[in-house]
Amino acid sequence: MARVFSGIQPSGELHIGNYLGAVQNWVRLQHQHDCLFSVVDLHAITQPYEPAALAQRTLDMAISLYAVGLDPERCIVFVQSQVPEHTELNWLLTTVTPLGELERQTQFKDKSQRQESVPAGLLNYPVLQAADVLLYEATLVPVGEDQLQHLELMREIARRWNSRFANGRAAERGEGFGFPEPQALLSTAKRVLGLDGQAKMSKSLGNTIGLFETPETIWEKLKPAATDPARVTRRDPGNPDICNIFTIHQGFSPPETQALVARNCRTAGWGCLDCKRVLADNMIAALTPVRERAQELRSQPRRVGETLRAGAAKARAIARRTMERVRRRMGLLEGARV
Ligand code: TYM
Repeated sequence: MARVFSGIQPSGELHIGNYLGAVQNWVRLQHQHDCLFSVVDLHAITQPYEPAALAQRTLDMAISLYAVGLDPERCIVFVQSQVPEHTELNWLLTTVTPLGELERQTQFKDKSQRQESVPAGLLNYPVLQAADVLLYEATLVPVGEDQLQHLELMREIARRWNSRFANGRAAERGEGFGFPEPQALLSTAKRVLGLDGQAKMSKSLGNTIGLFETPETIWEKLKPAATDPARVTRRDPGNPDICNIFTIHQGFSPPETQALVARNCRTAGWGCLDCKRVLADNMIAALTPVRERAQELRSQPRRVGETLRAGAAKARAIARRTMERVRRRMGLLEGARV
């Protein structure tokens, strides 16, 4: 059984971009592998944020994850800051991370442009992300396409740490310790575009459909959403392969419907609005029970908090074992921790 790790920022909203790009896969994977999923609050604070609202947003994101079907009996769901080993490993990994690689990260370049004064934490962001995954020796990381560069750097960090500190021969005998190199796992909807069809769907761009929106709002937002840009009039045939609405169909509609949609798009048998109506119906059917579950969980914040703490305790038991081995290999004085 592979070990799976992935994380999501408490951005305030689970939307169909991060859901179809990553979280829908998490729900599936929990039945097949040994999985850990984290609400990464320490990553979120590298961007300007409101301290008074962060804890609630963190709890809301955890509730969203439970509501879409992550089951604490089948996988470990926890809040990153409740397992302090993440920050400890982060520091240790910075000592083998090349500065140039960090400066080259596209997300760093984008996000630092939007800030007047760039905090060092933003540069360090991918190292913390590497620590998240390596701490659990995870080999599979289900993410959207925008995370691929971070994953590549993560492998580079693992290789550099291994070549400096892992004992190769002992590792071959199964006695040493070295980090495995994690691989990304992409979904069919690896890059869901926003409703405007311009950039990736993202809360900060305001181009999302939230998973918990009402049926009326879902339809209101889908109606004007961008489709294949070459399909100008009702009679033009379309190309589902480049249509964002078809990408979303792949997450919500059964294979027979997808085939029907694709055929009617290519032959102009349906207009875009016909296709969207079918999608809206399927989305609403799938999301109504999810919305109801989230509502129920929101009324029990204490219970959710306890479930998260239990998750953090399970994660921490694994993290502690890794850290003992990492500290030993890096030559830190044993027995010095109180
Ligand atoms: P975050 O919170 O931005 O997004 C969570 C996951 O959703 C995917 N995603 C998308 N996929 C397709 N289309 C979209 N429009 C879209 N928007 C978001 C993201 O690729 C991601 O998989 N750095 C990470 C969080 C993180 C992490 C980790 C991930 C921290 N530590 C360790 C994996 C492993 C992030 O900001 O994700």
